[in-house]
Amino acid sequence: MYELANIDELREQFPVTQQRIYMDHANWSPLPSSVRAAVDEFMQRRQYAASTKNEWNEKVVQVKGKVATLMNCSRNEIAFTKNTTEGISIAANGIGLRAGDNVLITDAEHAANLYPWLNLTKEGVELRILEARGRDAKVSDFERLIDPHTRAIAIDHVENWYGFRRDICRLGRFCRSHGLLFIVNATQSCGTMPIDVKENHIDILSFSCFKWLLSPYGMGCFYCDERLIERIVPREVGDRSGTISSRESDAKLILAADATRFESGNLNYPGVYGLGAALDMIADIGVERIQKKIVWITGVLTKGLSDLGLKIISPLKDEFRSAIVSFSVDDPNDIVARLLEKGIYVNVRGGMIRVSPHFYNTEQEMRVFIETLAEFV
Ligand SMILES: Cc1ncc(COP(=O)(O)O)c(C=O)c1O
Repeated sequence: MYELANIDELREQFPVTQQRIYMDHANWSPLPSSVRAAVDEFMQRRQYAASTKNEWNEKVVQVKGKVATLMNCSRNEIAFTKNTTEGISIAANGIGLRAGDNVLITDAEHAANLYPWLNLTKEGVELRILEARGRDAKVSDFERLIDPHTRAIAIDHVENWYGFRRDICRLGRFCRSHGLLFIVNATQSCGTMPIDVKENHIDILSFSCFKWLLSPYGMGCFYCDERLIERIVPREVGDRSGTISSRESDAKLILAADATRFESGNLNYPGVYGLGAALDMIADIGVERIQKKIVWITGVLTKGLSDLGLKIISPLKDEFRSAIVSFSVDDPNDIVARLLEKGIYVNVRGGMIRVSPHFYNTEQEMRVFIETLAEFV
């Protein structure tokens, strides 16, 4: 058993808990009250012109600092984006790929880490796809796919159907030792477990904040290792990306030396305020404690599902586990709809029921879920 010390207080931050059992964080997250309050306050102060853009930009720097603390990097290595796809696109379009180069992904990537790469195939970039749906993506498997034209491995840290967690430590080391860029989509992991970008040799990391990071839509983060920043040329540039030498026709664009070069125009300021509040909550609890709680609560869940005789498709080995538990039933859509009628919010992905609890879900909620499910299977 591993319950957070102040669980009742934490649950008060999630009014959703008064109305339903919400366990679909791999899809999106209900907003905690503190996050909503931070966004509301921004909106209200803007409505009355009671704040200045300087203040908002100071907040941007401060919140980047919080993201940097979470990832163990410098705030200068963080840019704010609107979503994961934007960050992966900055990488795909900016790392200087040419016809004949190849990039390695798996067949289990979310669209956010597939479409931006596929888009380059019309320019002669080759995409090599490792079969790893629902199973480990081993270094040795990737090793078989590389050749002198391989430039990068791009992978979802946790894939979104089965919740398979990739070994980013081994993959990162492999990429570094072979001169490949290591590009990671952390949308299904960030906020559920510690991620150290330096220790794992991650060159580029991108994630959306509306799932496990409990933030508004339209808010994403992009990390780029400082060694690389000046090598990556953004396609989309604007006021935040740098300066210009003059307004003449021979003007030069001088891109910022830090990751702001990847930000084009004005940012999603309400989103930044919301993310700031969410990161405060996560830091107060501690991401290691969040991980421990999720490991325990998903353990309660998988035990309950096994006791019902259901087939769990998600990995059960500790090294591969995440906050996602998927299992098979005969008619997942019908069962999910019936659960929803009973106030239990889960989802269907890949023909399976996908359950994704966060730190504020409780053992009691797991029990109610299993008992309700037992009526339908
Ligand atoms: C693994 C993964 N990456 C990314 C996303 C979202 O990316 P974006 O916000 O760019 O649509 C999702 C889910 O929506 C996801 O499951």
